[in-house]
Amino acid sequence: GTKLIIDTDPGVDDAFAIALAALSEDVDLLGVTTVFGNVGIDATTRNARRVLALCKRGDVPVAEGAARPLVHVHPHVAKYAHGLDGLSGRSAALPEAERPLEPGGAVWLLSRLLESSDEPVTIAPIGPLTNIATLLSARPDLHHRIARIVVMGGALGHGNTSAAAEFNIWSDPEAAQRVLGGGEVPCVLVPMDLTYRCAVGREWLDALAASGPVGAALTALTPDYLAHYRKALGWDGMVVHDAVAVAEAIRPGVLRTEAVPVSVETSFGPARGATVVDQRRPELRAETEVPEGGNTVNVAVDTDLDMLRAFLLE
Ligand code: BDR
Ligand code: CA
Repeated sequence: GTKLIIDTDPGVDDAFAIALAALSEDVDLLGVTTVFGNVGIDATTRNARRVLALCKRGDVPVAEGAARPLVHVHPHVAKYAHGLDGLSGRSAALPEAERPLEPGGAVWLLSRLLESSDEPVTIAPIGPLTNIATLLSARPDLHHRIARIVVMGGALGHGNTSAAAEFNIWSDPEAAQRVLGGGEVPCVLVPMDLTYRCAVGREWLDALAASGPVGAALTALTPDYLAHYRKALGWDGMVVHDAVAVAEAIRPGVLRTEAVPVSVETSFGPARGATVVDQRRPELRAETEVPEGGNTVNVAVDTDLDMLRAFLLE
């Protein structure tokens, strides 16, 4: 199966995404690295380790990464969506991790796993891109060992954190531009426009709750997240952004992508953190070519919704 490393800031949908990879037979989950994001780094690291313990995956190493973005001094967190502890205030109900945290940090673990894998590795960043930008800058010798970087982030239309920006990109725009704009490793961008269309409802959540102890424990983490998404969606459901991206990391092609130029707005103003995705017809793009044109990224635009929801549930 695909060799995979998840870089994450759990987060309710991160917890779903980690569980998806931890329990899927199609994938070889080599490690998990953590980053600040939905909550602070102490909480995201604790949550990641507990979700793996819930899935009985004490064999998967976890290392802690960045506590802050590259340029902004203060991280902004999303407690309004994920609850004070990142898991709707329910993280204490998860089993404690027995496996100790890796002694080196996230960039160290990523490097070690890339060096020792016999095949190129897919990295799925589902939080701010700080660790991955640092890795790409620090270890150019390892770029060729990365098969793809499948990023959950970005917005083609409106954002969710500001009018223009999606949370993961907004949280560290310079890091996002370093990864998406670097052109060193093929990137897939799974924007919120598509993840919103993959939202799950009451029936799906009930089916998950009834599927067994892990499904029941994951469903128990959702009350605050559901309350937030009731406002965002206008109906009783939630968006499992990160699980959609990890589904693509596990099963390449499950999302339909288009190769288009992408750049990240890094100036300090109302568009900070916006992803500028050039969806013009290629003929027009070529005619008007300007130096600011972005690097080509595979942007996920569509999927078979029923098939995807069934895969996530399974
Ligand atoms: C992204 O932001 C976080 O709140 C979610 O975990 C997801 O990674 C969606 O915009
Ligand atoms: Ca996340």
